[in-house]
Amino acid sequence: MSSEEKPQDARVREINRQQRELFDRLYRLFDPPLPEGVPGRLEQIAAAGRIRAGDTVLDVGSGTGILIPLIRSYHPARIYACDLSPAMLAQLSRHYPRVRTLLADVRDLALPDASIDVVFLNACYPNIVDKPGAFANIARMQKPAGRLVISHPMGRAFIARLKKSVPFPLDDFPRRNQARKMLANYGFAIESFVDEEELYILTALKTSP
Ligand SMILES: C[S@@+](CC[C@H](N)C(=O)[O-])C[C@H]1O[C@@H](n2cnc3c(N)ncnc32)[C@H](O)[C@@H]1O
Repeated sequence: MSSEEKPQDARVREINRQQRELFDRLYRLFDPPLPEGVPGRLEQIAAAGRIRAGDTVLDVGSGTGILIPLIRSYHPARIYACDLSPAMLAQLSRHYPRVRTLLADVRDLALPDASIDVVFLNACYPNIVDKPGAFANIARMQKPAGRLVISHPMGRAFIARLKKSVPFPLDDFPRRNQARKMLANYGFAIESFVDEEELYILTALKTSP
């Protein structure tokens, strides 16, 4: 399905259910030790958010919180971690009890309008079933000039390999032009774009309401 097509709600619920089941079972795999090179690439991903002291940050598809210590090193005022999997969020809370967890599909998050400075989607974009719903809601919650970081510390080829071993569909990361067109629908403009063999980082700025 294209990233601009709205899927049926029943399909979203069913694929989210399959994901929840898998990630609830495998949540321990997302804790360190991480594959060689990944910690350094995660530092680049966190830096791409240009978090300022006092910012409010939302980590979408946070898993067990692999980005949280890196986000915290920039001294944000508040961090929200959103995920579909209760086991992922329970593990995150064990590691980082002060982070507010939100068990939800990002498309349904009810944080106030224009309340978030930086949104991260790390290793999560391919999993989001309702992309129009997710990006419309992220755009609603994001402050003007807020930053959006879509990333993967293993790059697009990793997703191509993973597709063969998971029971639900995964989308490819968008190429630059495809991403520019898609994000423009929600008032985001691409600021920088890295699409290397083992690293994908797209940063976008909220330019219009
Ligand atoms: C591959 S894991 C990555 C976890 C973490 N970001 C990391 O890098 O270790 C993808 C996570 O995204 C979550 N997820 C998938 N679709 C989601 C959605 N629509 N809203 C919120 N979380 C979602 C899954 O439950 C899963 O925990």
